[in-house]
Parts: sequence; structure tokens; C-alpha cells
Amino acid sequence: MIIAIDGPAGAGKSTVCKILANRLGFVYLDTGAMYRAVAWAFQTAPGLAGGAQTAPDDERLGQTLAGIDLRFALEDDMLRIFYGQRTLSEELRSPEITQAASRISRLPAVREFLVAWQRKLAAEGPGIVAEGRDTATVVFPQAELKVYLTADLATRAARRCAEYAAKGLDITREQIELLIRERDEADSRRDHSPMRPAKTAFLLDTSGLSIEQVVDRLAEKAQQLLQTVRRPM
Ligand code: DC
Repeated sequence: MIIAIDGPAGAGKSTVCKILANRLGFVYLDTGAMYRAVAWAFQTAPGLAGGAQTAPDDERLGQTLAGIDLRFALEDDMLRIFYGQRTLSEELRSPEITQAASRISRLPAVREFLVAWQRKLAAEGPGIVAEGRDTATVVFPQAELKVYLTADLATRAARRCAEYAAKGLDITREQIELLIRERDEADSRRDHSPMRPAKTAFLLDTSGLSIEQVVDRLAEKAQQLLQTVRRPM
């Protein structure tokens, strides 16, 4: 069973998806982390990108990506990311990589490379909770449950602000609002796989809801579906 959850930054996707996957005994697939990993690889070894920040030759970029030493695996019900011998995790969460991930995510070669990985990983799990921008519309159109989580900008900025403050990062709420607004625009206006709700998605505004309330609603929907799937013919 595949649950595909999309939505803008700060809507609560990651926290909700982690808990939901855990409750259902599913694997949590954070597709955003994969875009962040490509952005990190390009920044760490700029020669790799072949000018990805400007006007890349998609075919050349595709060849570069095919040879890149970036690997993804599902371990302990979570996505693990490796660059050579190194495990990537916290370094993917900086504000710089966040914005760079949005920039490189508009490149078709990058999307093609990562979507292939996402489908391969999903085929390994017993059940998957995938989160991102296009998981319900493009990556897993066959998903049994499609969700679009959103929240108003002030709520989303406040959540990100708390996350950055907990990490000791000095960034104001106004700066975060601006960055989120820019990223939402870029992610939803790009030509390839723009962020948008799938036609059949369950839309949920999490602004006034606690994490528990959101998880409860989604878990209830998932359980109903699981019962239908498991009911003997
Ligand atoms: O979910 P996130 O903030 O970690 O995602 C970082 C960026 O990656 C996001 O701004 C756009 C891109 N992304 C994407 O284009 N498609 C996805 N399925 C997931 C993320």
C-alpha cells in the first residue's frame, strides 16, 4: 500500500509522515531529502553539476547523475542516504541546501533520476508513506491514499522558525517567511512536476490542528483502506 502526501514547506509533512508510518508499520520515504542530497552533492563537488545552476544540458546532466556515487537505501523503516562512504543527514537541513534543493528540483534529469530511485525503493517496502511535492501526482499515481497537507504561511513560518531555533540557527521569522514564499512559488510554478494537489487528494489544512490530530485523521483513512484491501473476496 502506498500513501502519498504532498504539500508546501512547513505544512507538517515530515513529522506527520514519520509518526503515521510508524503507527502503520510502514516505511517512511522522505523524497525531499533526496533532492537535498543531489543539491548537496552538486555544491560539494561543483564540477559534478556541469553548470546545473545555469542552463544545464539535460542529457549531460543525466549522464553525470548516472555516474554519481549517491545511493539510497531503506534501513530500519527509514530512508538512508550515502555519498561514497559518507552518510548524509543533518548537513542536508541547512537553509542553503534547502533553497538549492528547490533550484535543482526543476531540472528534468534530476527528477528522472530521483523518481526512478523512489519507485525502486517503494517496491521494496511492505507499505510506504511517501512525502514530497509530486508523490501523488507523478511518482505514485497508483497510491491508495493521496493527501495534500497545507497550512497558512504564518503557521508554516512559525514551525520552521522553531525548528531552526532548536538547531541554534540565527534566522528571523520574516526571513523564513520570505524564503518559504519564494520556494512555494518556485516549486509550484516550475514546468516539470509542479507542486499541486492530485485530483483525488484528501486536502487537509493543518493550521489549527495538532500533530496528533493530523496523524489520527490520516491513520483513520489508511485503516479504512487497509480493511478494504484485506477483506476476503
Ligand atoms: O520537502 P523538502 O523541503 O525537504 O524539499 C526540498 C525541495 O526539494 C523542495 O523545495 C522541492 C524539492 N522537492 C521536489 O521537487 N519534489 C519532491 N517530491 C520533494 C521535494
